[in-house]
Amino acid sequence: MEILHFVEAVHHPLEEQELFPKIAAHPLLSQGGPLCTYFRGMELDLAPQSEPRRRLKLLHEQGLPQASAYPSFEWLNAQNPLSLPMDEHELGHHLAEAIKILLKPEMREKYPGALDALKSDYEQLLRRHIAKEDGCLFVLCEKLLA
Ligand SMILES: [Fe+2]
Repeated sequence: MEILHFVEAVHHPLEEQELFPKIAAHPLLSQGGPLCTYFRGMELDLAPQSEPRRRLKLLHEQGLPQASAYPSFEWLNAQNPLSLPMDEHELGHHLAEAIKILLKPEMREKYPGALDALKSDYEQLLRRHIAKEDGCLFVLCEKLLA
């Protein structure tokens, strides 16, 4: 829960308020960092977000309460390369909110197995996200802001 709180309440808001607005309109942003093509290829080939999104959709159809919508930002649009990490922030938000709900014993009983599955989804999403930021996004940010 400490990791989840740090990521959702501290780290992602910091990126979205302090870092991403500074680079969102940079003309070289779309050129990407050293491993961006690798990560993009992995996403296109393996679609690692599809299973957690399918699982969440199913749980919501079964009555699990929906999280609040993720905030929108004036610097973000679907054509901006930052929409890729922001898709992960948004999915992480929905997984984290579902995990918090499923921590209640009565909800765990109502949705057996869901908590462990979503915890695993969240951990895997976070590991991919961190690897992508370390190998691609933050390397690029350092160049653009130097
Ligand atoms: Fe991030």
